[in-house]
Amino acid sequence: MTTMTQDLPDTGAIRDDVLTGDSRGLHRLVLEVRGGTVPVYTSSGSVAHRELAGLLDGHTERLDPSAPDSVFHREEDGALPGERRPVPFLPKSRLLTPAEQRIAAECFARTLATGELTSGPEVATFEAALADFTGLRTTATSSGTDGLIIALRSVGVEPGDEVIIPANSFAATENAVLACGAVPVLADVEPDRHTLDPVSAGAAVTSRTKAVLPVHLYGRLADMAALRRTADAHGLRVVEDACQAIGVTGVGRHSDAAVLSFNPYKNFGLTGKAGAVLTGDDELAERVAAIAYHGFRPDTKNVKAEPWGLNAKIDNPIAAVAMGLLPGLTLKNYRRAYLAERYVTGLGELHAAGLLTLPSFTPDHAWHLFTVRVPGGPAERERIRAHLREEGGVETDIYYPVLTHRQQTPLHEAHFSHSRLPHTERLHTTAFQIPLHNQLSLTEQDRVIEALHAAAVRPATR
Ligand SMILES: Cc1ncc(COP(=O)(O)O)c(C=O)c1O
Repeated sequence: MTTMTQDLPDTGAIRDDVLTGDSRGLHRLVLEVRGGTVPVYTSSGSVAHRELAGLLDGHTERLDPSAPDSVFHREEDGALPGERRPVPFLPKSRLLTPAEQRIAAECFARTLATGELTSGPEVATFEAALADFTGLRTTATSSGTDGLIIALRSVGVEPGDEVIIPANSFAATENAVLACGAVPVLADVEPDRHTLDPVSAGAAVTSRTKAVLPVHLYGRLADMAALRRTADAHGLRVVEDACQAIGVTGVGRHSDAAVLSFNPYKNFGLTGKAGAVLTGDDELAERVAAIAYHGFRPDTKNVKAEPWGLNAKIDNPIAAVAMGLLPGLTLKNYRRAYLAERYVTGLGELHAAGLLTLPSFTPDHAWHLFTVRVPGGPAERERIRAHLREEGGVETDIYYPVLTHRQQTPLHEAHFSHSRLPHTERLHTTAFQIPLHNQLSLTEQDRVIEALHAAAVRPATR
């Protein structure tokens, strides 16, 4: 068994003046811009941060929202003075900007003309660019879900094995385990972190456990070093569900493989389903590539290297779109980090007063979702959400409304009805998400902050 921690470069060794586009560097950049200093960086040259690197090379003022041509979105919805426009949670018509839509259409049209609509040269180009960005071997897949199935099979998960997962995730996490014929086993999360608790994961290990599958929920990295230690103590493989955590420093460094998603709602959303499996292990990378495509030896037609495989590579046209949009990736992540910090500051008073619990502005986060908690409990949470909706026009959401062990199917009732996950349950009944997406405007964010101030103060105390 390989322990990736030993084989890969320590990300802490990255030079502070080199823009790598990962979350730690973006976090620092946000604090510098917020503090009014002009950062000086050299770009590491990855395509993924070409747009951001371009700005740092002479137009740093545009990173600040107060600049007239800042990189932040401004309200252009024609609201009349004093008029309160609703703030949607994640408006589908704004997943890509008009400029991005044009790029996507051009890339798609270019590949249509070649007739290479499944496999094709754009796939390898995109995989190489992503490998350059992540520093890991990369196989681009037809979705994050397929990536998880491929990664689990590639590390040796077989029918009847057990895989330890958290109970709060998108169904894809448990479904990937089930698709391998394996059994998901639930462990609790850390009290304040929404991610798998290494101690609880260790306690869930049995003689049938094959792997641990932590989820970087909302974009925050699980405690991967500790989870790796737990896994090593029991001889287990580790696959990261990093579908919400593209760009986070450390993804793929303490695991056998990590899986990304590029579905349209993600930080790096494309024009359909897509994902990727990352690994630092050359041998495993070969297995992943083979299992992603019918078990065939990569670059060899119809000759099997693995007994079995899926038809789950990314399509050539989507890979072309991905290449077209990739230069904007870390600029999107920069904006998200900036807006997250702005929420943390703008709502700080409510946190200090004990009315809301905010996340810390930590560098191990992609800010896929901005999660707040209501110490007052579930009824108070619903009161605040209703107030936001009815008085402030602010739409909120809950990710995810039903925990795995509360799903009501025969399988779930048979496997999980006795699960005891106190931290997961407590977080689940108190947390909700406020708008944070690639095109959230500053004006919209101000409205959310204002509406939350109005909503969080209980009527009796107002
Ligand atoms: C935590 C998590 N895991 C897995 C997935 C599955 O990714 P995809 O939609 O690309 O299949 C998603 C995205 O929906 C996710 O948020």
